[in-house]
Amino acid sequence: MFVSAIVLAAGKGARLKSSISKPLVKLGSLPLIIYSLKCLMICPLIKEIILAVNSSNVLDIKKSIRKYKISGIRKIVLGGLIRQDSVYNGLNAIDKRADFVLIHDSARPFIDKKQVSLAINEAKKCGAAIVGVPVKATIKEVHSLQSTVHGMLLVKKTLNRENLWEIHTPQVFKKDLLLEAYKRFGNTPVSDDAALLEKLGCKVRVVFGSYSNIKITTPEDLVLAEAILKVARRE
Ligand code: CTP
Ligand code: MG
Repeated sequence: MFVSAIVLAAGKGARLKSSISKPLVKLGSLPLIIYSLKCLMICPLIKEIILAVNSSNVLDIKKSIRKYKISGIRKIVLGGLIRQDSVYNGLNAIDKRADFVLIHDSARPFIDKKQVSLAINEAKKCGAAIVGVPVKATIKEVHSLQSTVHGMLLVKKTLNRENLWEIHTPQVFKKDLLLEAYKRFGNTPVSDDAALLEKLGCKVRVVFGSYSNIKITTPEDLVLAEAILKVARRE
């Protein structure tokens, strides 16, 4: 079985408000992107890694890859304006022999081999598998800001938490299904790749991930990530 991994690092990192490109921001002693690359490069089923970067971080990311001796990266491509464009550019670069594609956000440093293998194995069974965790918070849908009266934000409804999951990456798909989903719905903005397969009518399996698999989005996420790292080192 041939799994191609596409690792996304082409975003602007605007919400992190850092002068350093988000994939290169230091977490512990390593740049953020190095954590997930180190995990993916030792997964036996992953036969190649395609990295999507942007024109302002490409040189420094290449330097980091050399410095930290990351292996298995077969191509580095430029991403696009939105995340989906970056995935699409990555998809165009994967090896013809690939049966499955694993997509991962470099902004999630804490993936582990177990989670990755689980997602790949589940995708093998039904074509698509994504990792996630049950939502802990109470989630309410509110009326759109545009429709607020006197700037008052109003609740529309409370969602039933029992069936709500927060979805992470990695997400793994049978290559042909993902290509078909991108061909038919790639221009519709969605917040993850699985949503495109759902539009295609595919069954998407959710596997239990980890509450530590946080995405670094805003500055406080880095504080949390440092704490998670400390605990992981003690274990
Ligand atoms: N990403 C990408 N190409 C884009 C946008 C996002 O490759 N055009 C990647 C990011 O590098 C990140 C992942 O998609 O690894 C998830 O995106 P997000 O957390 O939103 O990161 P950014 O888009 O970089 O951050 P922001 O939205 O705050 O600008
Ligand atoms: Mg973004």
